[in-house]
Amino acid sequence: MGRHLGVAVVGCGGISNCHTAALARIPDVRLIAAVDIDEARARDFVSRYGFETHATDLRAVLSRPDIEAVVVTTANDTHAPLSIQALDAGKHVLVQKPMALTLDEADQMIAAANRAGKKLMVSFFEFFHPAFKRAKEIVDQGLIGDVFLFKAIMAWYMPRMTAWRFDPKISGGGILMDGHVHHVAFFQWLLGDPPVESVYSEFGAMNSDARVEDTGVTIIRTARAIADISGSNRLLEPNAQSGRYFKEALEIFGSKGTIRINPTERPSLKVFSEAGEMVESLGGGWIAPRLEPSPPLERAYSNHFNPDENPWVDEHRHFADCCLNDKPVVSDGYFGRKVLEILMAGYQSGREKRAIRLPLVAAGATR
Ligand SMILES: NC(=O)c1ccc[n+]([C@@H]2O[C@H](COP(=O)([O-])OP(=O)(O)OC[C@H]3O[C@@H](n4cnc5c(N)ncnc54)[C@H](O)[C@@H]3O)[C@@H](O)[C@H]2O)c1
Repeated sequence: MGRHLGVAVVGCGGISNCHTAALARIPDVRLIAAVDIDEARARDFVSRYGFETHATDLRAVLSRPDIEAVVVTTANDTHAPLSIQALDAGKHVLVQKPMALTLDEADQMIAAANRAGKKLMVSFFEFFHPAFKRAKEIVDQGLIGDVFLFKAIMAWYMPRMTAWRFDPKISGGGILMDGHVHHVAFFQWLLGDPPVESVYSEFGAMNSDARVEDTGVTIIRTARAIADISGSNRLLEPNAQSGRYFKEALEIFGSKGTIRINPTERPSLKVFSEAGEMVESLGGGWIAPRLEPSPPLERAYSNHFNPDENPWVDEHRHFADCCLNDKPVVSDGYFGRKVLEILMAGYQSGREKRAIRLPLVAAGATR
């Protein structure tokens, strides 16, 4: 029998179901502790996913040597303190996006990971979704030439604006922190993390009276490409897959072709390449590359993708493999910090009504 990675999950709320259902499917992972300040939620995770124990405070389980990794899926304001606690106790950490509320917190997390010599990975599910992954391979292979324009939108509808997401002290912001973060990360990953020259954002509570922005547009400028990233949590557009209000669409334009990603539609990936070379024609020169199927989860909390294009198992398999075999994670603390820096520049830009040049003055940890 191979070695197992003992895991504690801290934060047994909504998205944690995706993480935990995925972890439960990985033979190398042993689910040891479910932790939530709400004990009923922690207990529920024990019975639902088969954890060995539960706790209401992460500190209560960190002394266990058989817990080697902590998955942090709490609200944004606790990402840094809980991650640092876990790293200081010698555990690997996988933390949900956004990495932290400030660059200073992100720097402290990176320093803690370096001190401990442990993995710090920031969760960006797109990197493990078959359509997004294949899009990156297609760009890397040069099949659409040089990417010069990236357009993306992620949007959903929040009926009530009372949750922690709308308290700036807990969330750090609205749709930029919650939605744009995904496409900022994907854009940077897709293009090999190019230096960013400037960021410009417009945002506001445009369709609600929330205390944080419900809608925004962020423009990122690199030497060779411009990204136009939009989002809202007040958009009434049902998705084709489930009828729920969730929209995600990306267009990636290159000097030799175009890629479209629609994770709630089929095919979720469409490519037009002047170079041709691929089969499965959709007509008009468009093709739908074959995607590697990924295992669907029994509890599809997230209806953001087609069930067989679910990224969560692959993401956690990657994290477990990196922890057990000391391999580099795809999105480490430095990468998570870069994404946060772009978002912070976006907020500054919106406040000051001008484009902000990077790096920000409060320069922190760099590789
Ligand atoms: N990648 C994605 O698709 C995605 C989707 C949703 C949320 N998220 C991120 O995941 C995180 C959680 O979001 P959610 O919607 O699941 O929130 P949620 O409110 O449903 O769940 C958070 C849970 O954390 C618990 N908690 C809070 N502070 C704690 C602490 N100090 N110790 C232990 N437990 C604590 C809460 O009691 C709650 O059960 C956020 O950072 C959010 O940005 C990511």
